Amino acid sequence: MPSSMASHAAQPEVRVEVAGRANLIGDHTDYQAGLALPFALRGLTLRIDGRRVGDGLVLTSGLAGEGWGRYAAAVARSLRYARRAVRPLDGTISATLPAAAGLSSSAALGLAVALAVHDEQLSSLELAEICHRAESAYVGVPCGMLDQLAIVNGQADHASLLDCRELSSEPVPWPADLVAVIVHSGISRGLGATGYAQRRAETEAAATRLGVDTLREIEDADLSAAMVELPERLGRRLRHVVSENARVPVVATALRTGDRRALGQALAESHRSLGMDFDASTPEIDLLAELLADLPGCVGARMTGGGFGGCVIALVETPADEAALDAVQRTYAQRTGRIARRWITRPGPGIVRCEHDGRALYG
Ligand code: GLA
Repeated sequence: MPSSMASHAAQPEVRVEVAGRANLIGDHTDYQAGLALPFALRGLTLRIDGRRVGDGLVLTSGLAGEGWGRYAAAVARSLRYARRAVRPLDGTISATLPAAAGLSSSAALGLAVALAVHDEQLSSLELAEICHRAESAYVGVPCGMLDQLAIVNGQADHASLLDCRELSSEPVPWPADLVAVIVHSGISRGLGATGYAQRRAETEAAATRLGVDTLREIEDADLSAAMVELPERLGRRLRHVVSENARVPVVATALRTGDRRALGQALAESHRSLGMDFDASTPEIDLLAELLADLPGCVGARMTGGGFGGCVIALVETPADEAALDAVQRTYAQRTGRIARRWITRPGPGIVRCEHDGRALYG
């Protein structure tokens, strides 16, 4: 066979690349129909390259972490449930996005599989719903829609103001002179194995006692009266959700107007609320947030995602001071005995690439 034909035959017919996400603010609000402001992570992605051969789904990967095969199978099942075609695929997964770091590698994997085995363009919402159903109903992780919505709506240089009641997303321009510094605590968190499910159940119990479908219905102004109706712990859970919903638009506006003080204050309050009211932080995460907040040029820092480990996000003026960041990691290692990893990033597209036979979808 002439070499040009050989290389043609080896061309992947399917090429998909999907980013992870970080949440700037609005955590533990999605499953109570609330607000959040996430973005897709430029440069931290998961790829699937493959050929449409065989009659099933065969994926190989060097990815660390268990159980990713279950995610892939769950996505195929969820596509079929939605009466969407599942094409055969023999593919390879590769990633710069770390697994089990709280940066939504599982949502990125689910979306990448959906994009790789279904070769018609779906609406962002349908795509997110199919993958969310795969993860919650079929894999059994009790997550909300934040991760999938963050990725499918992710645009370069924009965060997404998500409303999880309307399932809508509005792009919010990201300031040109700010980067996101993401630091992983070295503590991996599996949603199922932590307090996530318990926190979610507590918010549901609070909603039931207050006679509302979701805590989104409780306004800031009604908070004190509502807290009186609840046992102390459920009251704190409620206060976190209600105050976090109020902070999200404040941060969106502060990004637009360049109000750094308001930004920093809202991020710090969110971190305190997740720690004190939601009991979702850890001493390591608190230490990282504190060290990062003291960096030169840092506008604000908070934990990001579900908590109980995972990552802290800091908004930092460019150029980020790499030597100062090295010092943060050294201090963290001395005080906790753990190795932190960091990435300096900005919002990128959530769906970086989706090509079937050279035809680009989602462009
Ligand atoms: C995890 C879940 C999301 C969301 C966040 C907390 O990332 O997958 O649905 O609940 O935690 O905001």
